[in-house]
Amino acid sequence: MRQVIVAGNWKMNKTSQQVIDFVNKMNAEWKKCKVIICPSHSLLSTLYQTGKNKGICIGAQNIYYESKGAFTGETSSDQVKEFAEYVIIGHSERRRIFGEDDSILNKKVLSALNSGLRPIFCVGESSQQRKTHKEYEIIKEQLDNGLRSLSTDDIKKIIIAYEPVWAIGTGEVATPQIAQEMHFFIRNHIKNIDGDIADNIPIIYGGSVKVDNFYDILRCDDVDGALIGGASLDALNFSDLIKIGEKHNIDLINMSDSS
Ligand code: PGA
Repeated sequence: MRQVIVAGNWKMNKTSQQVIDFVNKMNAEWKKCKVIICPSHSLLSTLYQTGKNKGICIGAQNIYYESKGAFTGETSSDQVKEFAEYVIIGHSERRRIFGEDDSILNKKVLSALNSGLRPIFCVGESSQQRKTHKEYEIIKEQLDNGLRSLSTDDIKKIIIAYEPVWAIGTGEVATPQIAQEMHFFIRNHIKNIDGDIADNIPIIYGGSVKVDNFYDILRCDDVDGALIGGASLDALNFSDLIKIGEKHNIDLINMSDSS
C-alpha cells in the first residue's frame, strides 16, 4: 500500500512572518499521510523552525547541480539539505521560463540524490502536445531523459509528479480518467526498470487541485496524492486538503486490512 502525499508548492509567495502565521493557523491533524511544503529558499529555515514539530516535511523548489563554487545566485543540494528532505525538479515553470532542458534536469536529479534529497520529479505535456496526441511520447521522453543513469536504489527515492501544463494555474483540472490513464502509463513505464519499484513508486498529480476536486482524483488507483500550487497558499484550505488525504489514507489501510 502506498502512502498518500499532500504536497504544497508555494512558488514565489510568502514572507517569513506569513510562514509563521500559516503554520499557526493550520487546523489539520495527520498520522498516516505525508504532508510536504515547498517554499522559496529564503523561507526554508523559518519553515524548518516552525513546522518541524508539526510533522511537516520540507521540500525546496529548485537546486543547482554543482556542489559549490562561483555560481552567483544559486543554491546547491547540500545547502538545501540542511533544511529540506525533498526538492521539486522539472516543474514546467522551470522548463518553460528558465529553459531547463532534460539534460540539466537529469544533472539536478543526480545532484539531489547525491546529497540525500528526494526529488519530486515533474513531467507533463502542453495542451498542444495533447491535442496532437503526443502526450504519451512526451511523458516517456521526459522520464527516460530526466531519470537517465539512476540506479534502482535511486529510483526508489523518487516521487513522480504528473502535472499537465494545461492544468497548472488554469482552473482546468484533469479529469480523473485522464489522470488515471497517465499515472497508469507512468507506472507501467517504470516496470521496464523494475516491477517492485513500479508498484511502490509514489505518483502524484498536479494542476488546479482544490478541495472540491481532490477526492475524485485521489480515488484513482494509480494516483498517490497531489502537488498543489494555488490552493496550498491558504492555511485553512491546505488543512482541508490534508484532511481529505488523511481520510483517504485511512480508508486504504482499512481496505488492505480487510482483504
Ligand atoms: P496549481 O499549481 O495547483 O496552482 O495549478 C500546481 C503546480 O504548479 O505544482
